[in-house]
Amino acid sequence: MSESYLTTPIYYINAQPHIGHAYTTMLTDAIARSRRLMGDHVFFLTGTDEHGQKVDRAAQKANLPTPQFADQVSAAFRQMCRDLKISNDDFIRTTEPRHYAAAQEIWRRVQRAGDIYKGEYEGWYCTVDEIFVPEAQLVDGKCPTCGSKVERLKEESYYFRLSKYEKPLLDYYRDHPDFIQPEFRLNEVRTFVEAGLQDLSISRTSFKWGIPVPDDPKHVMYVWFDALTNYLTALGFGSGDAAAEDRLARWWPTVTHFIGKEIVRQHALYWPAFLMSAGLPVPRRIIAHGFWLMGGAKMSKSLGNVARYQDYTQVFGLDGLRYFVMREMPLGQDASFSDEAMLTRFNADLANDLGNLVSRAITMVHRYRDGRVPASPVDGRDSLDRDLVAATAATIESVKACFGEIQVSQALQDTWGLVRHVNKYIVERAPWVLAKDAANDATLDRTLYHAADTLRIIAALVDPVMPDAAGRIRGMLGLDSAELWTSLQVGTLAPGAQLRPVDALFPRIEKTIEELRGMTTSNESTPAPTAAAATPATPVPATPAAPAPAADSRISIDDFMKVELRVAKVLEAEAVPKSKKLVKLKVDVGTEQRTIVAGIAEAYPPDQLVGRTIVIVANLKPAKLMGIESNGMVLAASPEGGLPNLVSVDPSLPAGSRVR
Ligand code: MSP
Repeated sequence: MSESYLTTPIYYINAQPHIGHAYTTMLTDAIARSRRLMGDHVFFLTGTDEHGQKVDRAAQKANLPTPQFADQVSAAFRQMCRDLKISNDDFIRTTEPRHYAAAQEIWRRVQRAGDIYKGEYEGWYCTVDEIFVPEAQLVDGKCPTCGSKVERLKEESYYFRLSKYEKPLLDYYRDHPDFIQPEFRLNEVRTFVEAGLQDLSISRTSFKWGIPVPDDPKHVMYVWFDALTNYLTALGFGSGDAAAEDRLARWWPTVTHFIGKEIVRQHALYWPAFLMSAGLPVPRRIIAHGFWLMGGAKMSKSLGNVARYQDYTQVFGLDGLRYFVMREMPLGQDASFSDEAMLTRFNADLANDLGNLVSRAITMVHRYRDGRVPASPVDGRDSLDRDLVAATAATIESVKACFGEIQVSQALQDTWGLVRHVNKYIVERAPWVLAKDAANDATLDRTLYHAADTLRIIAALVDPVMPDAAGRIRGMLGLDSAELWTSLQVGTLAPGAQLRPVDALFPRIEKTIEELRGMTTSNESTPAPTAAAATPATPVPATPAAPAPAADSRISIDDFMKVELRVAKVLEAEAVPKSKKLVKLKVDVGTEQRTIVAGIAEAYPPDQLVGRTIVIVANLKPAKLMGIESNGMVLAASPEGGLPNLVSVDPSLPAGSRVR
């Protein structure tokens, strides 16, 4: 059993939390939960960064005394943690006395090491990022990081001898190649250090909203010097408390900082240098993720293109939001946040794949075995069972490895591979057919057992990302507590266990994008498009194509989305008496079986249709054809005067998958 100290950045409180802040917090939470499932002891810290000029100005703008403004906005971040079911162990505010003690203690240690001297800062400052910007780095006179206007400062300031740490930092990077993930970020920092470091201004005199410098209260500490120390404060650093030594010794060497890529320099360069100077160990690991983009630009308060997490938890539920952001953003890459992408993922992955699996597996055990899990002796397994068991065991291992490497999106992709595998296993086994003949009892037992047992494993694997759904699936399976990943194995669901009634996990969201937009404020504030975001880097050549339809006959995406195209499996097919063209099909559409009458008999004899994977219009009003009610329409392409040719998709797609 080992220890893991995990931290998020502490968030500036100049504005309310948005999806960007929520993301880092949810990512760290998913990792914290996965580590606990691996049996680790975890200490998980998050909080708010409350000092500095930016916050002070925001308070003035809000016409509130700064401490009162800080209390209000910090409370919103604390509420975000509750709303998102974040399992943090502490929430730190840099305005707390414990943090003043820690920041002043580290200042004194750095000073004792001879690394602080007084001088005068004259140069540029970006208040949005709270960074000093060397003149040579300005881009059109603006901040190179965020593009905001910079201000000219000229004031007395304490300096930190950053230049002294050039070599120790480079040595550290060389000896710890896994210090930052993704690795290319370490190369960026290394290149920056190799270009030569200048000493860093670490105090300000032109405003008061900060931690006073020990013995010189005319100065307040530079907000980053103050903020980075929070990671030590939470362990009791500077408190003089005897227990703090033990806490520091236990947790500090295990720390992993989760941050966005824009603050790598502060964490991978300034922070290690401060720590080296103070005689403290350098953090073990930094995980730097990419940006959430809206309208092609970084989601940020200053651009005004932010999405509120509350709008999305309201429509998609907490697990819906947590799943989307974890699945959509591979570590280190940027990802786009949009209502369309979220609706698509929710309905495809959650409502269709996982939701259908849960409802089928549980319902079938109720329907065919009175809700009691049947037995499945190992020696009775056939190749379909063995394939599923092997895939499940492999998925457990790959998911554990992915979480260990912070590859949460990949962990979810692997888990969904298993979800689709079980769905396919159920379709291939067709329990509804097996149930018609008692001679198939043993096969039906095995099918039901493996479906339920694999569902138990899937619940355990999604637990770090979707704690609510995992708990609800366990509840349906009659299990009370989560299993540790260290002992997670195929085939341990107890035969005879009584399942509880099925509970609809992720009902489909049958809303158009326009309806959805009305419920989320995110799209109201169009981002101020930056030149880079608005213009593609390389002009895209016009592709010659079929002539565009007349403008008035084109339909919008919303019109198209009204047509519900779905994958279906043909279970039965029979000719319609007295008709040359019609065939009566029984199809599985994932959630149900239905009858469709299709005009494809001339091209496909009935026996060639059974087992095919086809595409249907699933939301067509019922119609009677030759006296038979048809519920849907089969898609086929017909050349002029020729026979219809069925539209086909990959047969491994589960029934019910949406086609768009
Ligand atoms: N207060 C500093 C951090 C001090 S840590 C000692 C700060 N605060 S912040 O409020 O600006 O938050 C920045 C962090 O919020 C990013 O590093 C990232 O974790 C998260 N994000 C804010 N906007 C984001 C996106 N658009 N996309 C992804 N994450 C984003 O910097």
